[in-house]
Amino acid sequence: MIFRSAREKPQPEQSGGVAAGGTGVPRHVAVIMDGNGRWAKARGLPRVAGHRQGAEAARKVLRAAGEAGVECLTLYAFSSENWRRPEDEINDLMGLLRFYIASELDSLHREGISIRVIGDHKAFQPDVARMIDKAILRTASNRRMILAIALNYGARGEIVNAARLLAARAAAGEIEPGEIDEAAFDAALDTAGLPPLDLVIRTSGERRLSNFLLWQAAYAELLFVDTLWPDFDGDSLRAALADYAGRERRFGGR
Ligand code: FPP
Repeated sequence: MIFRSAREKPQPEQSGGVAAGGTGVPRHVAVIMDGNGRWAKARGLPRVAGHRQGAEAARKVLRAAGEAGVECLTLYAFSSENWRRPEDEINDLMGLLRFYIASELDSLHREGISIRVIGDHKAFQPDVARMIDKAILRTASNRRMILAIALNYGARGEIVNAARLLAARAAAGEIEPGEIDEAAFDAALDTAGLPPLDLVIRTSGERRLSNFLLWQAAYAELLFVDTLWPDFDGDSLRAALADYAGRERRFGGR
């Protein structure tokens, strides 16, 4: 995968400074990749075919995001609620993850993409968890772009874990309870160190956040599109970025 980023230099820390006439390129885009099953069903194919095509869409969108100058792309690949799916489908998703990492890692690394995980992938099949750990380690010093994959992720669980961590630090006398502010909370979340979230896209016509980045999305722009995820491509991403660029963000101000 070769892309030229439109934004080579890191941007100022707080995103969403409202430029005249629009908001520019979002630093951090997150996607709820929904509709794989419906895509497959409409073609008389097994659900795994939809997920396979969904992984292909993820590849295209990552490339388009990099070219546009997005610094971080977060993809919701497996929610903590997805364990309720039939075992066969879970195995198919694990297999796809295995395949995606094996086939994409070299090229992601060459492109300067750093892989992060939010959620707890340690609960995955041990070989998959190990592959993910190795991919994170190998790409850790890459600076061009971040691909954050949400795996076994749920926002409420993430918030509870952050609260637990801060409470433990307070109980150990490392911090005063009064020192726990929004910045401290941010730093205790799985997304610590990622750019502030600017845009959440959900495909397939559903209009919910489904336990995804609830804290981080407080001031993010939300975009719901009818396209099923496997049909979402570089042009779809560029259209989403154009929609975002036309919005005015006020962060509670006027
Ligand atoms: C939602 O569609 C999609 C998922 C639960 C899995 C997303 C996974 C992928 C796109 C493949 C792996 C991705 C990477 C980055 C390797 P759904 O099955 O809920 O669709 P439906 O609502 O139409 O049934």
